[in-house]
Formats: sequence, structure tokens, C-alpha cells
Amino acid sequence: MLIDTHAHITDEKYGDGGKGIIEAMPRDNLEAIICIGCDRESSLAAVEVAKNPNVYAAVGVHPYYPEIVTNALMDEFKSLAQNEKVVAIGEFGLDYHHDEYDRDAQIKAMAMQYELARELKLPMVFHVRAATGDFIDFIRDKAFPEGGVMHCFAGSVETADICVKKGLYIAFGGKLTYRNSKTTQEVAKKIPLDMILLETDAPYLTPVEKIGQVNYPAFVSYVRDKIAELRGMTADEVESVTTKNAKTLFKRIK
Ligand code: NI
Repeated sequence: MLIDTHAHITDEKYGDGGKGIIEAMPRDNLEAIICIGCDRESSLAAVEVAKNPNVYAAVGVHPYYPEIVTNALMDEFKSLAQNEKVVAIGEFGLDYHHDEYDRDAQIKAMAMQYELARELKLPMVFHVRAATGDFIDFIRDKAFPEGGVMHCFAGSVETADICVKKGLYIAFGGKLTYRNSKTTQEVAKKIPLDMILLETDAPYLTPVEKIGQVNYPAFVSYVRDKIAELRGMTADEVESVTTKNAKTLFKRIK
């Protein structure tokens, strides 16, 4: 069965707090979903929805909101993470895509969440967009004993290599199926198979097969199929290895 390692199932686009998605998991061939927090509210909602069987949570603050990353919030995340269904800290990182961003504030917020994850001995879910240089500078002298994942990876083969050597997995989502994702497809062909994870980032980044619709964790099967095509493997092979990888990284998934 498949694991969607990155989805936002409590997003208001679903209108039911993720209930329909969770009910459909057995027929969608989904063994587990990790619901990812982007700020305080969505992190609390992720922990709440993770009360359901086979749903897990990550708590963290997206680089869009560095100003909310305070010591008080880190303390709150620390107590949330006592819950065994919280499998990671994230998503956090750097995002310089939009015109107005505070680089120093983003780097500081990333460093605080890195420290939190280290203290809690949890893996990290990184969101990095248009900020590869600063991110590589950040990780260069850091260790990742519990590992982590580069969510929705869109960098080069060289960048992927640096991340993999640091113990960071590379996660692919619906973007991998787009015609203009040649670089990402090259990465998916070349990185070690045991460092690949599947994700959707639902409700965003719908795979090409369902373009125009809201994205769902069930559509992670299209990402599996694309990787199988790129690497000359069967869908079953990709499914079993990526599910095993997800359980290796996210040790709290039972
Ligand atoms: Ni996300």
C-alpha cells in the first residue's frame, strides 16, 4: 500500500476536515497519510486529525510566516510532539519565490525549528523554494541524525546529491508528472532508490492526469507510476520500496 508523506487534509477546500479522505483510505490503497502543519492552527488541526487510525501529523511553520516562530510556540510544539502520532517537525525552511520576504527572519525561523527537531529527536520536513544557495549553506555544518525530507523537491541532481549525503530524503509529488519538470524527472531517475518518498501536497499540485481538480492523497498513485516509468520499474516495486522508505524515516509510523 501507499503512504502519502505530505498532505494538508484539514484544508478548507475539502470542507469536511479530511473525513472523506480518511474514510476512502482503504479503497484508495493508502496505508498512511502524514498531515503537515504550516502554522499554529494547521499544526493543531493536524494533531487533532491524527487521532484517526493511519493518520499522522507533523507540526511546524512554513517559511511564509517566520514572525510567528517564537520560543513560546516552540514550547507548544514540544508538548504537542509528546503525542506519538506526531512523526516529524515541519514543514519549515526557506521560500524566496515571492517578491517580499524577510531572508534573515526566514533563516532564524528555520534554525529554531531545526533545533527543536534535534532536541525532540524527530525527522524534519523541509520546504525550500528559490532558496537553494542559502539552504545548502545552512545544512553544510549541520547533522541530521534522525534524517529529514526535501518536500516537493525541485532542485538539480547536484543539490539532491548534497541533501541525500546529509541523510535527507527526496520527496516527489504531482509536479513530477508535468511536462516542464525535466530536471526533477532527471533527479527521480538518478538518486538512490532507498532515498525516494512519495507525496501529494494535497490540495495543491494536482498531477497532470487530474489537472484542474483539487488534489487528493489518492492521486499519489500517479506519482508512483511516473517514478516507475522513469526508472523502468513496476508500480508495485516503487510502491513497496517507497512505503518502506517512509517507515524508515518516520519511525513513529506503525
Ligand atoms: Ni505542503
